[in-house]
Amino acid sequence: MVHGGTPLRGEIAVAGAKNVALKAFASAILTDEEVVIHNVPLIADVHCMLDVLTSLGIKVDINGHTVRIQSKSLKSTTVPLDVGARLRTSSLVAGPLLARYGAARIPNPGGCRIGARPIDRHIRGLAEMGAEISYHPDDGYFYLRADTLHGAGFEFEKNTHTGTEALILAAVLAEGETVLKNAAAEVEVDDLISLLTGMGATIKRTKEREIVIYGVKKLHGVEYSLMPDRNEEVTFALAAAVTSGDVLVHHSRRAHLGAFLEAFSSAGGQYEAVDASTTRYRQIGPIKPTDIVTLPHPGFMTDWQAPWALYMTQANGISTMHETVFESRFSYVSELRKMGAQIEYYDPPVKNPEIYYNFNWSDRRSGYHQGIRITGPTPLHDAVVEIDDLRAGATVLLAALTAGGTSYIHGVEQIDRGYENIEERLRKLGARIERKKEDEI
Ligand code: EPU
Repeated sequence: MVHGGTPLRGEIAVAGAKNVALKAFASAILTDEEVVIHNVPLIADVHCMLDVLTSLGIKVDINGHTVRIQSKSLKSTTVPLDVGARLRTSSLVAGPLLARYGAARIPNPGGCRIGARPIDRHIRGLAEMGAEISYHPDDGYFYLRADTLHGAGFEFEKNTHTGTEALILAAVLAEGETVLKNAAAEVEVDDLISLLTGMGATIKRTKEREIVIYGVKKLHGVEYSLMPDRNEEVTFALAAAVTSGDVLVHHSRRAHLGAFLEAFSSAGGQYEAVDASTTRYRQIGPIKPTDIVTLPHPGFMTDWQAPWALYMTQANGISTMHETVFESRFSYVSELRKMGAQIEYYDPPVKNPEIYYNFNWSDRRSGYHQGIRITGPTPLHDAVVEIDDLRAGATVLLAALTAGGTSYIHGVEQIDRGYENIEERLRKLGARIERKKEDEI
């Protein structure tokens, strides 16, 4: 339950990066020694991924924001369906399991609310490294075997963030050299590379989109602190701007936010570098409309698309948003419309959509649109809204904080997947949010 209309003001610290934490846990399978990860966000996806490890017999200990993992006790190379199906990154254990134990059985992660999200690019790469892989539709499992994994030259047809990580995680213990071409440039990939390097791996980003991995015989334990979550920082920056607030963000990494900060400035948003890791975000003056195209790094991230669209509902004029990474990431649009936003779908003209889009064009269903047009400014009002995806959830929460009146948001467990204790942290900025059970409303 959100009572909107209060500008958010104060200080907030960004938590550790979800999209590194999940992969850091998979890395722990690469050694019998203890892997200690600090700055772990206490969010639902983290618990799900740790459940994947414990389901394999791995010892996991959580103490505050530190997680200790020891994979020596591993008993199984099969990820149980019920555990694996809860989280797409469960498939990332495949490479480490193959490299160390020669076998892995992982549930097909399948589709989710933002698109089909297949792992065909991961599978093709692992096969190039010598894995025999079959998919059994009767039980929903990928079966993978490899007596030895060997290095390979592999060029990704299209960008894949976790696909790149999946192959790095397999290649670090493979025999020989692996060259990944058209590899993802996301900063989370580089944080994972730093962690693996700390474990004794030899990995080099030789060009912006090329990564070379020299397989080693053995990796050792490590103690590693995760980088801050740039998607959280963007959420807080936009929370400040859209509520006409003023927020000081600690553990800020401006170097990871180039495309965002550029767009934010062009919309009239103000950011001030207080020191190397503190940034002040606010909006002074009117919000200017923008035309944004989401892209893999270093472009404007797809994860920022939804909260940005909310920001643009308050801009003076017509804005556009073209989603090119996922084929279905506009689930929040219907909910913002319930709150009075004027957003319509459109289909941006694209010459060769099969090549242009980051998703597989064949995964697109009729009725999908890749663009929205937002007419602003429209004052938002309270509503009863429903969410079914993490970033959509954060966006609808910010919308409710911006709106007048009291809004009810259902499905808030989606927000818990990626944001630790969000209502408590936003309350410190003046937000009026209460978490209630359905029967208490
Ligand atoms: N794709 C395929 N086949 C593949 C791999 C990807 O068709 O084998 C498609 C995807 O369906 C998508 C596009 O290619 O349409 C890009 O996928 P990518 O693999 O780059 O994304 P991802 O690894 O599944 C990660 C983050 C996302 C983030 C994207 C883009 C994690 C756990 N997830 O997803 O984060 O939006 O990269 O940077 O790292 C989030 O945090 O809310 C989230 C969705």
